[in-house]
Amino acid sequence: MIRIGMLTSGGDCQALNAAMRGVAKTLYNSKEDVEIYGFLDGYQGLIYGRFRLLTYDDFSGILTKGGTFLGSSRTPFKTIQEPGADGVDKVAAMKQNYYKLQLNCLVILGGNGTHKTANLLREQGLNVVTLPKTIDNDLWGTDMTFGFQSAVNVATDAIDCIHTTAASHGRVFIVEVMGHKVGWLTLNAGMAGGADIILIPEIPYDIDKVVKKIKERHDKGSRFTILAVAEGAISKEDAKLSKKEYKKKMENYKYPSVSYEIAEQIAKKSGFDVRVTVPGHTQRGGSPCPYDRVFASRLGSEAGRLILKGEYGFMVGYKNREIVKVPLEDVAGKLKMVDPDASIVKEAKMLGISFGD
Ligand code: F6P
Repeated sequence: MIRIGMLTSGGDCQALNAAMRGVAKTLYNSKEDVEIYGFLDGYQGLIYGRFRLLTYDDFSGILTKGGTFLGSSRTPFKTIQEPGADGVDKVAAMKQNYYKLQLNCLVILGGNGTHKTANLLREQGLNVVTLPKTIDNDLWGTDMTFGFQSAVNVATDAIDCIHTTAASHGRVFIVEVMGHKVGWLTLNAGMAGGADIILIPEIPYDIDKVVKKIKERHDKGSRFTILAVAEGAISKEDAKLSKKEYKKKMENYKYPSVSYEIAEQIAKKSGFDVRVTVPGHTQRGGSPCPYDRVFASRLGSEAGRLILKGEYGFMVGYKNREIVKVPLEDVAGKLKMVDPDASIVKEAKMLGISFGD
């Protein structure tokens, strides 16, 4: 008998269901007797013993469905080792529920924070296999996370829609793309949507260079300019601030997000009509794209194979077009950021895209 627990933690994304289905089908199709327990709302379910014994039917008809049928929540790693407001020792509670159900392994689907907690549970002696989800594509140890390609599609659609209206009205448009710490999504959606300027956290911008690019386009006869701006885009001046100074600045920040600050500066410095569009959580919603359905199914299937072989302590990732297993201790706590010298950035620049640097 193989008995596993499954949970999805952190911000959701497309193809979580597809990935869980991949794990389950692989296990159910093996010769083993299998029991799968689904913990509800991520680590909260594991802490408070909220779970359900799943059946084959739970995994039917979910390949194309976005979201996660188990629910998700954010349970910050920063405070995971501190007692909650209710005095519960979260790590001890998670271990207790794992042992009470006599699980062979936990399958944990999540992004960066989730992986830190998964690694902690591994260090505490639990068997863990993880799957890399996030629209941000910022997990170390894998070239790709599932959810990313679907989010690129949504963000690109937003930029495409803005393109036509920007052209009609001769406006400067900012499309704010998700990603507080990394710019993979903005970079890819920006390139796919033909953005003229892409601002990402890894390449601090100079607002005068941004305005210069817009004016150049205008002088050459372009009636409009599209900027793809990451949630975490940062100016060169702000990038120089210490963490403490930056935090102080943000305490009195009058804009809903950085895009509105940039919009105001562009309007003041150029006189152009500037608008901001924020697709927000639409980027995490809806059906997974075909790429993500296949990709998440493959990762899930490999996770199932590892469980059948009793190989634990790994994230199933993707490197150089191969599905690979990456030790959890190597993944936890590291971010995969856009290298400002990466070839994709150089190619984008050769295409005439400005990064405001
Ligand atoms: O980590 C995924 C992500 O979608 C980020 O790109 C975004 O900044 C953040 O989550 C939004 O978080 P929340 O759903 O908690 O508002």
